[in-house]
Amino acid sequence: MKGALPNFYHSCTIFFFVSLQFHHVFSTNTLSSNETLTISSNRTLVSPGDVFELGFFKTTTRNSQDGADRWYLGIWYKTTSDQRTYVWVANRDNPLHNSTGTLKISHSSNLVLLDQSDTPVWSTNFTGVAHLPVTAELLANGNFVLRDSKTKDLNRFVWQSFDFPVDTLLPEMKLGRNLIGPEKEKILTSWKSPTDPSSGDYSFILETEGFLHEFYLLNNEFKVYRTGPWNGARFNGIPKMQNWSYIVNNFIDEEEEVGYSFQVNNNHNIHSRFRMSYTGYLQVITWTNTVPQRNMFWSFPEDTCDLYIVCGPYAYCDMHTTPTCNCIKGFVPKNARAWELRDASSGCVRSKRLSCGEGDGFLRMSQMKLPETSEAVVDEVIELKECREKCVRDCNCTGYANMDNMNGSGCVMWTGELLDMRKYDAGGHDIYVKVAEASLVPS
Ligand SMILES: *[C@@H]1O[C@H](CO)[C@@H](O)[C@H](O)[C@H]1NC(C)=O
Ligand SMILES: *[C@@H]1O[C@H](CO)[C@@H](O)[C@H](O)[C@H]1NC(C)=O
Ligand SMILES: *[C@@H]1O[C@H](CO)[C@@H](O)[C@H](O)[C@H]1NC(C)=O
Ligand SMILES: *[C@@H]1O[C@H](CO)[C@@H](O)[C@H](O)[C@H]1NC(C)=O
Ligand SMILES: *[C@@H]1O[C@H](CO)[C@@H](O)[C@H](O)[C@H]1NC(C)=O
Ligand SMILES: *[C@@H]1O[C@H](CO)[C@@H](O)[C@H](O)[C@H]1NC(C)=O
Ligand SMILES: *[C@@H]1O[C@H](CO)[C@@H](O)[C@H](O)[C@H]1NC(C)=O
Repeated sequence: MKGALPNFYHSCTIFFFVSLQFHHVFSTNTLSSNETLTISSNRTLVSPGDVFELGFFKTTTRNSQDGADRWYLGIWYKTTSDQRTYVWVANRDNPLHNSTGTLKISHSSNLVLLDQSDTPVWSTNFTGVAHLPVTAELLANGNFVLRDSKTKDLNRFVWQSFDFPVDTLLPEMKLGRNLIGPEKEKILTSWKSPTDPSSGDYSFILETEGFLHEFYLLNNEFKVYRTGPWNGARFNGIPKMQNWSYIVNNFIDEEEEVGYSFQVNNNHNIHSRFRMSYTGYLQVITWTNTVPQRNMFWSFPEDTCDLYIVCGPYAYCDMHTTPTCNCIKGFVPKNARAWELRDASSGCVRSKRLSCGEGDGFLRMSQMKLPETSEAVVDEVIELKECREKCVRDCNCTGYANMDNMNGSGCVMWTGELLDMRKYDAGGHDIYVKVAEASLVPS
């Protein structure tokens, strides 16, 4: 979408209107159980390496209804510029309305944020041993952790901010879901506005119901964009990811958790983060030490063909055709009148019924975004030939594809309508769509 860039820069400009007050007196990266962090002391924690800073900040919007300040506990990049970039906010939906606020470690060994009347507005939910000696620490990667001060294992945390993303995915953070223990979903949710960190309309969430897992960008409960399934190296619906040379992508698909994380291949002092913008774009923002200006590296959805099911069932979107929606060969518009008026939402239907046997064939479509996989079935062991045979035998099968683009094995089979396909210039996948044999004969 062409709107992405202006909107993004617009949001940066507005950031200057956020009134920020903050000076620090002394800095370390830890908060012991006998210490507090208060708004009036102006103290902050600074991560080793000086990249991140944790403390209180306030926002006052020009059009704030009550004109009152709202105070938050958050983490931002420690820079000298006036324009702060916040990467995490503890009490995003429960601000302090008073410049009296205290962060401390409670008797139950939890971090707790108290307002002027000592009422907790936010706290961590660790329910282990009370009076466990704990220390809070801001790590070099921006993770704010609470750990047993006696533990020798520095990677074991009682609680960590990385488990509670706000709108930003930092390197080493995971987005997805813990499948064991109290189910914990890790999703990005946009700010409400550039000056309001409360939960906004847009979120980026991993769907974990089906065999394959895909991320969806939602506007409230409505799907706006889909990344396509992970193909072993990248998401099928983000073909340009193959050229993100300095980002190392990692998809975890294990018994205890599924999720995505990334790291920056840091030969060039490059920094990167993902952000769910309040304007509805998933942005990948990148900068270097020498050029600290934030550059938007990528933004999704990218064009109209990225919009979720823009063309209806059995159709695909192609930015190079007019109209952009096309029926798959062997299919015709379901509602010809609407289709002519560029309303493709009803999609396409078969021009010839399947015979469910010898009379059927497969149409190979290349450089495609694979259809939505929520109803797709996966067989990780069989190869393409067996995949085809399996599809032929199943009358409900509408198409198949390789699951793993990297080594050629694995089979995905669709048994319902083929939804949300598009054609790419490069980096797409092959899909084989079942059609009546006669449809394959060039007319
Ligand atoms: C707070 O606790 C830390 C570690 O337990 C200790 O080193 C420090 O001296 C204490 N500070 C005060 C003011 O009691
Ligand atoms: C904290 O910052 C405010 C605003 O600049 C200032 O008025 C106040 O004196 C500072 N407090 C301390 C303890 O330094
Ligand atoms: C803020 O706290 C002070 C006392 O610390 C109190 O007098 C004042 O009414 C409070 N303001 C609000 C808006 O709660
Ligand atoms: C703590 O648990 C409550 C209730 O389940 C939840 O609303 C709150 O968001 C949790 N707080 C954190 C910091 O996870
Ligand atoms: C990745 O870069 C190569 C070389 O510039 C280019 O040929 C290819 O089309 C790019 N891939 C995508 C998906 O843009
Ligand atoms: C095919 O779909 C129909 C209707 O959804 C269902 O009743 C039937 O069990 C399916 N057949 C197979 C082999 O999955
Ligand atoms: C292909 O990759 C899958 C998943 O990584 C693996 O289980 C399988 O053994 C690989 N197959 C071949 C032929 O290398």
